[in-house]
Amino acid sequence: MVELTLPRNSKITGKGRVHKAKADGGDIRTVKVYRYDPDDGENPRVDSYQVDVTGVSMVLDLLIKIKSDFDSTLAFRRSCREGVCGSCAFNINGKNGLACITGLDELGSGDISIYPLPHQPVVKDLVTDLSKFYQQHAEVQPYLQADDEPETEHRQSPEDREKLDGLYECILCACCSTSCPSYWWNGNKDGQDEYLGPAALLQAHRWIKDSRDDKTDERLAALEDTFKLYRCHTIMNCVNVCPKGLNPAEAINEIKRMQVERR
Ligand code: SF4
Ligand code: SF4
Ligand code: FES
Repeated sequence: MVELTLPRNSKITGKGRVHKAKADGGDIRTVKVYRYDPDDGENPRVDSYQVDVTGVSMVLDLLIKIKSDFDSTLAFRRSCREGVCGSCAFNINGKNGLACITGLDELGSGDISIYPLPHQPVVKDLVTDLSKFYQQHAEVQPYLQADDEPETEHRQSPEDREKLDGLYECILCACCSTSCPSYWWNGNKDGQDEYLGPAALLQAHRWIKDSRDDKTDERLAALEDTFKLYRCHTIMNCVNVCPKGLNPAEAINEIKRMQVERR
């Protein structure tokens, strides 16, 4: 058991720790953050921080402020701060999204809750273990496989390049897969009867559609599986949360359609 030193203005309640604002006044918002430390021997809890959000516009800035003003042990991933790296994906007020491009003004005026991505093992606080998610991405062989390698660049017509729009932009943030109920139930089964989830399938479609790739049939054959592909039930949560405005459900439907044509 690690000995606990609470900051001034903080107290322990039955439901978690409450951290009061450091000074009176300002624009105070209550922010509830999931906390879990595998080394302290305690159960996960939800801590409340009363934060003066004056000058804070994005959820990521809010987390950085909590870490710097209240508790430097708060763990979360982030890198680019502009919606490109996909690191800062959390469940924010019940919906998956990127903290760096989610404005406080989008969250209404009540309490703000920030949890890890749903149904993933938690490493610490808001950091989830996405190993399985990345394994599923690797399973669709997300790289060009051409029978003949040209001696110079591998050229593509503008029309064929356009077919990749809406697919290549995926940043692998995992917001879609971890918001998909079918993925919650079928996405983590050690390769047996396992649904690959919307992110991996969108990536599969991206390579199936690439005019330079010669493994279309092999790629489709590998996905012709009751679980890998057909556990999508068009619930559409994936489309609702994608921070890049992509449509994994449509990509999945397109793969299913190609499977029918292939039979
Ligand atoms: S449409 Fe398919 S992939 Fe998207 S959330 Fe629903 S079941 Fe999951
Ligand atoms: S499809 Fe969208 S939500 Fe899913 S991993 Fe890619 S960018 Fe993230
Ligand atoms: S920090 Fe890179 S997407 Fe948010």
